[in-house]
Amino acid sequence: MPKSYKNMQEQIKSAPRTWLITGVAGFIGSNLLETLLTLDQNVIGLDNFSTGFQHNLDEVQSRVSDKQWQLFTFIKGDICNSETCRQSCDGVDYVLHQAALGSVPRSIEDPLITNENNISGFLNMLVAARDAKVKRFVYAASSSTYGDHPGLPKVEDKTGNPLSPYAVTKLVNELYAEVFARTYNFKTIGLRYFNIFGQRQDPNGAYAAVIPLWFAGLIKNDTVYINGDGETSRDFCFIDNAVQANLLAATVDDEAATDQVYNIAFSERTTLNELYQLIKKRVITANADAEEAKPQYRDFRTGDVRHSLADISKAKERIGYEPQFSVKKGLDRAAEWYITNLS
Ligand SMILES: NC(=O)c1ccc[n+]([C@@H]2O[C@H](COP(=O)([O-])OP(=O)(O)OC[C@H]3O[C@@H](n4cnc5c(N)ncnc54)[C@H](O)[C@@H]3O)[C@@H](O)[C@H]2O)c1
Repeated sequence: MPKSYKNMQEQIKSAPRTWLITGVAGFIGSNLLETLLTLDQNVIGLDNFSTGFQHNLDEVQSRVSDKQWQLFTFIKGDICNSETCRQSCDGVDYVLHQAALGSVPRSIEDPLITNENNISGFLNMLVAARDAKVKRFVYAASSSTYGDHPGLPKVEDKTGNPLSPYAVTKLVNELYAEVFARTYNFKTIGLRYFNIFGQRQDPNGAYAAVIPLWFAGLIKNDTVYINGDGETSRDFCFIDNAVQANLLAATVDDEAATDQVYNIAFSERTTLNELYQLIKKRVITANADAEEAKPQYRDFRTGDVRHSLADISKAKERIGYEPQFSVKKGLDRAAEWYITNLS
């Protein structure tokens, strides 16, 4: 029986360790940083600011005590540089590897750059972490690995063909992790994230994710576009659930829980049309003009899967994952943050 999240947090707090978060200035990385500092852990963070921001780190600093902030060491560097990876892994107990170039459309436009960051960078990190003898290497995998497999809900061992270069890179990450387990007895866990959302997810740029993009559009009275008929569905998962999964995966006692991949989602399906209404309802409280807003429908996007829903029973059973935020509860939190930061 894996420990509950509450017990695990107490255990982590009572015996501080050194954690390396790659992609620490990004959305998921900065949320991991905040939680680990709150638990008085030593944290090394690596980022090259390609899609992450200093302001994410500044916000974390403002939310922890001065003493906790002193526990953080930032390295500005690139996972494509093997020496930087080696230096970053020195003395580290747990790696939470988040650094990668996200976005399916970005990878379709520039597969080479996605490959370099997501595969070569990943391999650099695996080698460095193996050589530094870290206890566990937890990495950001992706629901995109299910590709064209029609089954719903998605179960870890039933994957289809990748639908984008990004999906190929995330699949290759899993293959490398598996081979490192087999050939070097190196302990890894892959977390297949399903559409994570929440505070500090970037609403700007050509590759912004749907939830921050729509919060920004409705707050600023900009046009909100829906790709396709709006009946495409996703298993949207609030960031605090993903943070929980990372901490559980890094510290779960049962060795049999390692060398595995786990779906990390809430296990609830929301269509884009439903999502639009949920976001609009929350934005109206701060911007009455949003009441009149109507979304514009446009073509389906290449490489997007039609429906996504996770079976999360494996993560529940083996690492004790108990997501605490439903989509609605997560959107309440996200709304607070976007309204404060974008109004
Ligand atoms: N957000 C999601 O819904 C989602 C879903 C599936 C998988 N993921 C994966 O989770 C991870 C984190 O995603 P996110 O949403 O926080 O994205 P993000 O873009 O906010 O964060 C990624 C961070 O990695 C950094 N980075 C990128 N390439 C780097 C490099 N070569 N060297 C050093 N730093 C580098 C970026 O600057 C950024 O700070 C990624 O691996 C992504 O593929 C995210």
